[in-house]
Amino acid sequence: MPADSTARLERGDVIVLPHFRVPIEPDERGLFSPAILGAAKNASFDPASGRLTGTALDATGSGQLLGMMRRFSETAAGLLDRLFPRYAGRVVRARASFRPAEIAGRETSWRKDDTRLHVDSFPATPSAGRRILRVFSNVNPDGRPRVWRVGDGFDAVAARFAPRLRMPLPGSGHLLAWLRITKSPRTPYDALMLQLHDRMKQDREFQSTSPQVQVSFAAGTTWLCFTDEVSHAAMSGQYQLEQTFLLPVDAMERPERSPLRILERLKGRRLT
Ligand code: SIN
Ligand code: FE
Repeated sequence: MPADSTARLERGDVIVLPHFRVPIEPDERGLFSPAILGAAKNASFDPASGRLTGTALDATGSGQLLGMMRRFSETAAGLLDRLFPRYAGRVVRARASFRPAEIAGRETSWRKDDTRLHVDSFPATPSAGRRILRVFSNVNPDGRPRVWRVGDGFDAVAARFAPRLRMPLPGSGHLLAWLRITKSPRTPYDALMLQLHDRMKQDREFQSTSPQVQVSFAAGTTWLCFTDEVSHAAMSGQYQLEQTFLLPVDAMERPERSPLRILERLKGRRLT
């Protein structure tokens, strides 16, 4: 089964675990309100430092939220080890988030509007080609689903937009790091992925007419996919836990299927 999961994941599937429910303790019920947020749209937990950010909760509430997120983060890491033994020791656990705000009807700029199809790329934290693997769990206490649109494969999307993706100026990636706009130099790969994210979200015709399916994740469901590859849009839903992992391309069974290698083929040059 695990070998099979790895092949499916690397093929660009969303792997759904309908019965993998993340348990919520009775005293954590109070955390299920958008009012726990500060100015940020999510609360976030960094497993490396053990720090929690983005919440307006008092010390008691923060302690509870930290406990819930740490438990989820460790559960997600254990799940990954079981599903993808090949990645063991290579995959890095990054931040986790708790998303208590309703998605539908939320006001944001087009760039931050995740109801538009996109692939993930982080402006401040370049991946330098590493894969972004995310585990999501719908923990809605009222039994409401989280609804996504899932779009066309990365090959097709990248081929469509590649002629509009511009190589960054030499040295600009290091300048961004020096100015502390990014945490590490933005590689040409990261620059192209950010443009791809933006061009996808800005293209109305692509949003409405490109191949896509609606997927509804029931409450109590966990799912995971490479979000740097899978075109996705979150349309509605409230209360989700999410854990991000980073995976070096050479840890993949089929590295040639990574966005890095696909973009390198389309651009005819190395990008990291
Ligand atoms: C996203 O990664 O675009 C949002 C996913 C979600 O919140 O369901
Ligand atoms: Fe996304």
